[in-house]
Amino acid sequence: MLSAELNRILTRVGPEAPIGALFRRFWLPALLSEEIPGPDCPPVRVTLLGTGMVAFRDTQGAVGLLDARCPHRLTDLFFGRNEQGGLRCVYHGWKFDVQGACLDMPSEPPGSRMKENIRVNAYPVVEKGGVVWAYLGPRDRLPELPDLEFLSLPADHFYASKCLMKCNFQQALEGSIDTAHLTFLHRSLEPMAKDVFAVGDLQQFGDADGAPRFFCKDTDYGLQIAAQRNAEEDSFYWRITQWFMPTYVLVPTVPGLVCRANLFIPIDDENCWWYRVRYHPDRPLSGEELAEYSSGGLDYARLIPGTYIPEGGKANDYLLNRNDQRGSSFTGIPSAQLQDIAVQEGQGAIVDRTQEHLGTTDAAISRCRRRLIDAAKALEEGTEPVAASNGSLYRLRAVAMELPREAEPEEAARRHLVVQS
Ligand code: FES
Ligand SMILES: [Fe+2]
Repeated sequence: MLSAELNRILTRVGPEAPIGALFRRFWLPALLSEEIPGPDCPPVRVTLLGTGMVAFRDTQGAVGLLDARCPHRLTDLFFGRNEQGGLRCVYHGWKFDVQGACLDMPSEPPGSRMKENIRVNAYPVVEKGGVVWAYLGPRDRLPELPDLEFLSLPADHFYASKCLMKCNFQQALEGSIDTAHLTFLHRSLEPMAKDVFAVGDLQQFGDADGAPRFFCKDTDYGLQIAAQRNAEEDSFYWRITQWFMPTYVLVPTVPGLVCRANLFIPIDDENCWWYRVRYHPDRPLSGEELAEYSSGGLDYARLIPGTYIPEGGKANDYLLNRNDQRGSSFTGIPSAQLQDIAVQEGQGAIVDRTQEHLGTTDAAISRCRRRLIDAAKALEEGTEPVAASNGSLYRLRAVAMELPREAEPEEAARRHLVVQS
């Protein structure tokens, strides 16, 4: 459990909140590149950490991320016309470029120099890995981009998607580092048609041992979380997860199979985006893999067409089917992603952590909370988060593997954890 005060600190993301300030020290996914697919395409609304913005791609293909409010009389620039190198407000025609400079002010007399003194706040952006990354913090603290492996792979080696979650980001993060739930929430009661978790035969050990032992290691980037399950008589099944500040997770898969990254980005205190990336370091993703990721199935939730909102939600009980729950799946909810969303939204918009009863398999979650709260408090006192200025710390992998019982897991897994360049 957590006191009400610490729970408030952990979950609030506005500019005055300690965790909100911590997030504002990192590059964060703001939107997918596919949302602004080409020059002069329609602008899109973006809300990040409670800040309303508008994103657009100009005639040259450059991406702009501006405060949503036009500096004239503060209407929404989302309505704007994206044309000829800038976004033009539809109220009186003021036009802004991707840097936030005012290019045109047709409501003022010819010769007026007023536009030279008018800017709209424009946020630094970098486009990489199918994602437009944004930085919302102080300009003299520009961080390094996290060197997550998929960011330096060819475009056909990764697939990035996103999905709305109607709950606080921390619930989503805690779900992603909680390997214990694999045995229950995601269990199939029949042989699985697909290797949904990219762990192959090891899934049998995940299903069999629901009480893994956790070994958490504090690192400069966050936590390395090793969970040990019984496997054969002389072996253990290890899952080694990486949690990176602020909310990026690598989920363990067997070396050689598709890798999985989750990034949980606060929209505001009660909603977040789940960015989900699948990538293979050595080969393009197959047509079958891409079809599953883009249209939903056993792993991915199906989205309402034209949106990033899952078809399953609170109003339809996340498509829960009680017959399936009796016969084929532990939950009766159709995809692993929707299963996660159901239980994490099911905790409430912001879970009341004063009421919970944590057990031994919640060790990593407690540690993660403590690290975030400590980092936020340290920042308030002037200590910057180390990971923000060290992108290379993110150059790691997560692994699932079976090892002899006497093996030292970290040592045995080391060669699989570090990305070789
Ligand atoms: S409010 Fe935007 S130009 Fe007037
Ligand atoms: Fe899950």
